[in-house]
Amino acid sequence: MARLSISEASKKQGEKVEIAGWINTRRNHGKIIFFDVRDASGLVQVVVTPKEEESYKVAEKLGSEDVISVVGTVNKRPAENINKEIETGEIEIVAEEINLIGKAVALPIPIEGDGYDVEESIRFKYRYIDLRRPRLQKNLKLRHQIVKVARAFLDSEGFTEIETPYLSKTTPEGARDFLVPSRLQKGKFYALAQSPQQYKQLLMIAGIEKYYQFARCFRDEDLRADRQFEHTQIDIEMAFVKREDVMSAVERLITFVVGKIGKKIEKKPFPVLTYKEVMEKYKTDRPNLNKNKADLSFAWVVDFPLLEKTDEGGYTFAHNPFAAPKPEFVDSLMKEKELANLQSLQYDLVCNGAEVAGGSIRIHEPEVQRQALRVMGYSDKRIDDEFGHLLAAYKYGAPVHGGIAVGFDRLVSVIAGEENIREVIAFPVTSGGQTSVMDAPSEANPEQLKDLGLKIIEKEEKK
Ligand code: AMO
Repeated sequence: MARLSISEASKKQGEKVEIAGWINTRRNHGKIIFFDVRDASGLVQVVVTPKEEESYKVAEKLGSEDVISVVGTVNKRPAENINKEIETGEIEIVAEEINLIGKAVALPIPIEGDGYDVEESIRFKYRYIDLRRPRLQKNLKLRHQIVKVARAFLDSEGFTEIETPYLSKTTPEGARDFLVPSRLQKGKFYALAQSPQQYKQLLMIAGIEKYYQFARCFRDEDLRADRQFEHTQIDIEMAFVKREDVMSAVERLITFVVGKIGKKIEKKPFPVLTYKEVMEKYKTDRPNLNKNKADLSFAWVVDFPLLEKTDEGGYTFAHNPFAAPKPEFVDSLMKEKELANLQSLQYDLVCNGAEVAGGSIRIHEPEVQRQALRVMGYSDKRIDDEFGHLLAAYKYGAPVHGGIAVGFDRLVSVIAGEENIREVIAFPVTSGGQTSVMDAPSEANPEQLKDLGLKIIEKEEKK
């Protein structure tokens, strides 16, 4: 007999079916044993009577979270036993055969309830148990739905999904790199991509015109409720566009996705506010405009400064070093006049107080890019070492281009109504940077270090 999902089996009234799943709860009523069995599709009541001697013997020894398979007949429940709370509440499966597939010892964390109060390190150590709770199952399914709908939308608009390397060279997004030592070239390192930024710009020079990617980005930064070491972006880049074209494409993407998920957007089209306005009115560049808690309030913030002052008295980039100045400020950039007042073609999308996307029109002229890097304090040698490839590429015919990256974990968490992005990530790291389930970071064995030509200094000092 082929196993059916609980939702399929529950539609087969009067028929014999086989189901499999976890024992959610067990109740005894006199001699009769009741189980609620759970699989990915739902929950169903299984009844075991002493009449089925073999099954009864197995059932007597079963407890919560044991994994079993059941062969039985789907019966309509007596009227007084109908449970309106669950989808399969009108039927039950009367067991004829029960097999124990996997015994479960007592769980280290409870899976009833929402789990917010369970300590993070224990939740993540046993994440495979934590994920059994309905709230997290729902979040993972919601995330999948959003991926699917977003891909369908971008495909319908003529975007091509292209993967770019994760093992790469540093690309500045304002965080520390995760470095990966090279075995073949000892003493040299790859950096895990902080974003596909430079690759997507190179794809525009390659003539792709409309690129997107569900890209993983790696950033060694302090962890917060809205930050993980690795996060996912819907990364987008478009050629021959103005700022408004990129903003409009993303607005349509978000509106489509939110509509398909069945949530409401408070105001459409999304309000567009300038950086100056929001800083004066809300004292933050990610204002929360939400009046009704149940809705999603999106807003664009534009006209950001191109540069930020550094503690050392110089300037650094406000978004990333590739953001273009507004046309009326190019001359000042080239002549290094009023650097603090230059505005860029950067745009951020905020939702309910979270920055969910950020992007810009890019510089596409090599001499303007070199000058922008110079005012950001890069020496010509460093510019050639770190960005020579991009400046060279611009010399071979570069289209005007711009793009954006949607912080996918943040977008899913605001749609799910979760305050922490770890609630929509299957295996997040703890706030101390410890991975879920597998105990990383961990020590490398001496053979690996030798292969890579690395020595751990602190360890030696301790000896
Ligand atoms: P930016 O650095 O603004 O831009 O990142 C884009 C969006 O990604 C999300 N995000 C994060 N989410 C979780 N954890 C993190 N550590 C984290 N860091 C960023 C935010 C943010 O708005 N290459 C540019 C995009 C571009 O210009 O096209 C970039 O990465 O929601």
